[in-house]
Order: sequence, then C-alpha cells, then structure tokens
Amino acid sequence: MTVAPHPALSANLATPTQAPAQRDDAPIELSTLRLPTPPVPPDTCVIDVAQLFLDANYAGLLSLPIVAADGAPVGMISRYELMRVFLQPYGRELFGRRPISVLMNHAPLVLSVETSIGDAARAIAQHIRSPITDDFVLVENGRYVGTALVLDVLRAVEGRLADRSTELERAYVRLKSSQAQLVQSEKMASLGQMVAGLVHEINTPLGYVRNNVEMTRGVLADASQLIVAQQAALDALLGGDVVADAQARLDEVETLRLRVDPAALDDTAALLDDTLHGVGQIGDLVINLKDFSRLDQAGAQKADLNHLVASALKIANHILRKRGIEVVHQPGELPPVECAPAQINQVLLNLLTNAAQAIEHERGRIVVATRAVEGRAMVLIQDNGKGIAAENQARIFDPFFTTKPVGEGTGMGLAISRQIIEQHGGAIRMTSSVGQGTRFVVVLPLRAVVREAA
Ligand SMILES: Nc1ncnc2c1ncn2[C@@H]1O[C@H](COP(=O)(O)OP(=O)(O)O)[C@@H](O)[C@H]1O
Ligand SMILES: [Mg+2]
Repeated sequence: MTVAPHPALSANLATPTQAPAQRDDAPIELSTLRLPTPPVPPDTCVIDVAQLFLDANYAGLLSLPIVAADGAPVGMISRYELMRVFLQPYGRELFGRRPISVLMNHAPLVLSVETSIGDAARAIAQHIRSPITDDFVLVENGRYVGTALVLDVLRAVEGRLADRSTELERAYVRLKSSQAQLVQSEKMASLGQMVAGLVHEINTPLGYVRNNVEMTRGVLADASQLIVAQQAALDALLGGDVVADAQARLDEVETLRLRVDPAALDDTAALLDDTLHGVGQIGDLVINLKDFSRLDQAGAQKADLNHLVASALKIANHILRKRGIEVVHQPGELPPVECAPAQINQVLLNLLTNAAQAIEHERGRIVVATRAVEGRAMVLIQDNGKGIAAENQARIFDPFFTTKPVGEGTGMGLAISRQIIEQHGGAIRMTSSVGQGTRFVVVLPLRAVVREAA
C-alpha cells in the first residue's frame, strides 16, 4: 500500500534540491541539505505509516514529516515511537487503525530553508534530545518543503570548521611573514642610521692617517735624497777623486742637510704610531659592524654579554658623542649567556639609541651595567633624559607606538626588543619618571631556550 503525497505539495517536492553555488564568505543555508521527503497527511493510519518506514524512499530517515492539507507541518513521527508502540502488548491492535496524529510529536523542530548552518546547529543543540530520534522539517514561508538530517548538519558544520581552520592557518602564515619583514626592516632602519654614523667615525681616523702618511712621505723623500748625496760624497772622498769634485758633492750634502729637519725625522716615528692607532680604530669599527650585522649568528650560542654590550656601545658611539653624552660603563662578572648574539645586539642598540634620543640637555649621562643574579644575567641601561609620561608607559612596547617625528622613530624598536627577549625566555622592564630619566632592565636566563624567531 502506498500513501500519495498531498497534491498541493507534490509540485514543491518534484525536484531534489540543487545546492546553490556558495560564495566563500556566504553562510551555507539549510536549503543545500534539503531532502524532498514526501510528507504524510495527519489522518494516515498508524499501520500505513509503519509500512512507509520500510519503503526504500524513506530508508535512512529517522522520522517522517506529518503535514496538513494547507502545507503546514503539524508534527513528526519517528521510527522509535512506532517501535515503542508496536512492542507493547496489543500495541498494534490498539493503535494500528488510529490516525498517526495521535502518536506523532506535535512540536518537531521546524526551520526555514534560509536558516544558516550555524544557526541550525544551535537550534538542534537546544531542541533535540538524546537519543536522537528525529530529524527536522524545512519550511519556506511556513509551508513544508522537505526534511533535513541532523547528521548532514553536523557534517556541514565540520566541513565549515575545517575550511575556517585552513583559512586561519593561511592568515597566520601571512601574518608571520609580514611580521618577519617588519623585524627585518626595523633592523635595516637602525643599521642604516648606524652606518651613517659609522661613516663619520671611520672618516676621522682615515683623515689623519692620510695626513700622517703624506707628511711622512715628504720627510722620507728628503731624507733619502740626503742619504744618496752623502753616499756619493763619501764615495768621492774614499775613491781619491779630484778634490774639487769632492768639494762639490759635500756642498750638495750640506744644502740637503739643511732641508732635512732632524726634529721632523724624529716626528715620523710618532706619526707612524698615530697612524697605526688610527688604522686600529678603523679595524675595530669594521669588526664591530661585522659582529653586529652577522645574520649567521641568529642561532643560539654561548656569548659574552659584556662583549656584546661593549660592541653595541662602540656602534652607538657617534650618536652618544654627537650629543655630548657621558657613558658610565660598569661591566660586572658574567658567566657566558646562551643567546642569539645578533638579536641581543639589536636589543642593546635599540635601548641605547632610545636613551640617547631622550636626552635633550647638556649633561647627558647613560649608565650601562651588567650583573649576574640567581642564574640570570641582567643588563641595566639608565638615562637621565626626559622620561616617559605616565599615560604612555603602558604603550611603549606596542608596535608602531612612537612619540618621535617621522624619520626618527618607527615605533618598532621596543616591540621587537621585547619579542626577542621573550623568545630568549627573558624579560624586559622599564621604570621612568618624567624629567628624571628612564631605566630599562633586561633579564636573560643563562641557559636560554631560544624559540623560533618570528
Ligand atoms: N629611554 C627612553 N626615554 C624616554 N622615552 C623612551 C625611552 N625609550 C623609549 N621611549 C618611548 O617609547 C617610544 C617607543 O620606543 P621604540 O619602540 O624604540 O620606538 P621609536 O624609538 O622608534 O619611537 C618612543 O617613541 C619614546 O616615546
Ligand atoms: Mg627606538
């Protein structure tokens, strides 16, 4: 025996739902999960409905929709409920000929086809009890248009979640690479400033080295002429040449001797010492710059923190000197610190540059001290600059926070410094009072676990 669907409904149910093309960002709607289950009229008798559950058309459905002649869903009947009734003594005899409306669930879950999958999942969670015995009814403008399975909603939600997490993963990768670029460009910017300063720093010794060499060359040229003349005169005398010739040569020696100032000759020794000193200075700067910019030191290694501090001070020297700042360097006893030296250099240079830039008066002073405290190394950088206003103190580590004019500040120095120090398992702290100065303390564990750089 078969139960024909309502004539009024059959038009609606003629074609199975085609999933509308989804835009990536559009919420998936329930319409994509619609099953065109032919509905059952409420006066169908119980036995006939039980028969329907055996029909291949309804296989896989937990429950059947009961729909009134006007298309309004009025209930659902589940396999579970029919089984329960038929298992009772005389259940079949008592209920078999009665209309299904006496057994059906009068308050099934009814959702509009336009409901998003997310909202449907929420409604299901609130409405449906365990064990799950019912699926749910779909309506359009209040009229029955099909059913949908709880399981399908679950699958759709799961698919959506998977999509989201790949999306998130992609966004994370993009974010990470742009962050890496930022770190790199801040490093380039601070190196750029440093290099401009270093050019001055190298130019000064280079200037006097050149000067000394030129002076020495002049003196040496005269001296060697004198030596040649003396040699010739001596040869003439010893060789018993004509006396007049020997006299002429001695005269020549005499004029040359007047040109060569013995004091100038003595000076050349000092000039050469000075020159060596200048060349040494240039060499130092070059080595420091090389140390500083070495990207191959990105990995962790045991390093002498005092050496890193000294190197950063040397690199920052021109900024400090230009502002007439006195540096009080107090290196303490420190065991080797496991760290990425190039990164720590960057932090130290950021802190020194900030300190120097904060000093706007004549008696600038920066104290740089290191100390070992309970298995940790500490670097203190304290300035007597203008300090940090209370309302800014919480923001100085924020990326792009700067109080400096464009070109002088990027606002990335402290953000990057903190990231580097935290990646080393350390901490960076600041105390400041306006008009008095600012103190930064960097604490590093001696055995740092340097996490993957951002
Ligand atoms: N030693 C300091 N003294 C006063 N202000 C400081 C000091 N260090 C940092 N600041 C403040 O913190 C802000 C952020 O510093 P930073 O992240 O290095 O960026 P930038 O130096 O490019 O401005 C600075 O603009 C400044 O206002
Ligand atoms: Mg800075």
